Amino acid sequence: MDKNIPEHIAIIMDGNGRWAKKRFIPRKLGHRAGAQTLNKLIKYADEIGIKHMTVYAFSTENWSRSKEEVDALMNLLREYISDYIRDNKDSNIKVDMIGDISALDDDIQEKIKELEDVSSIKKGMNLHIAVNYGGRDEILRSLKKIYKNIEEGKISFNDITEKTISNFLDTRNFPDPDLIIRTSGELRLSNFMLWQAAYSEFYVTDKLWPDFNKDDLLDAIEQYKSRSRRFGGR
Ligand code: FPP
Repeated sequence: MDKNIPEHIAIIMDGNGRWAKKRFIPRKLGHRAGAQTLNKLIKYADEIGIKHMTVYAFSTENWSRSKEEVDALMNLLREYISDYIRDNKDSNIKVDMIGDISALDDDIQEKIKELEDVSSIKKGMNLHIAVNYGGRDEILRSLKKIYKNIEEGKISFNDITEKTISNFLDTRNFPDPDLIIRTSGELRLSNFMLWQAAYSEFYVTDKLWPDFNKDDLLDAIEQYKSRSRRFGGR
C-alpha cells in the first residue's frame, strides 16, 4: 500500500440488528457476527499499514435500548476482551478504549485495564474501541477537565486554544480520523467524533456491518485516495 492511505480510519459499525432480522435470529447474534467482522478487519488493516482505527462499539445513547440488548452488548464486550487477550498474544495490534469507561461494571473496567496493559508493548496498528462513547459527552468531559485545570492554576483562561480542547479529549494521543466509514446506509454521524470529524472524508455503504469485508475496506480507501482534501483552503 502506498503512502496516501489514511493514517486513521474510524468506523461506525451499523446494521448488526438488521443483519440478524434478515436471518430471523436474535439481535445479539447480529452483534456477535459484528464482532467477528471486526476481528477480521483489524488484522487486515494492520497488514496494509493503517496506523489507527477507531470503532464505535457502544454509544452513550445505546443505554436506552432494551435491558436485554444492553446486557447482551456488555456480555459480548466481556467475552470479546477475554477472547482477544487469549487469542492475540502474537498480534502486533495495540488496543485501547475511548469513552467514559468509569460507568461500566467493575469487572469490565478491570478487563479493559488488562487488555490495555498487555497491549502496551505492541508496535502495530492502534485499535481504539469506543465504549460508552459520545462526542458531546467527550467534549463536556474535556471542558470540565480544562475548568479544573484553570481553577488549580495550571492553565490560564487566555491560553485556551483549539489545541487545548483537543488535548483533553479521549483522542488526545492520536490524529483526527482521515476517513470515517459508516455501514448500513445511514447518512449521519450519530454523536461520533464530533470534534475530530471537522475535516474527515466520509464513506457510506449500504452493506450491513457483519457483511463488510476487506474488499469494502479497500474500496473505501481507494475512494479516499481519489478525494482532494483542502481543509477549507484552496
Ligand atoms: C449498531 O448496529 C451496532 C452496535 C450498537 C454495536 C456495535 C458492536 C459490534 C459491531 C460488536 C463488536 C463490539 C465489541 C464487543 C468490540 P444496530 O444494532 O444499531 O443495527 P440496526 O441499526 O440494524 O438495528
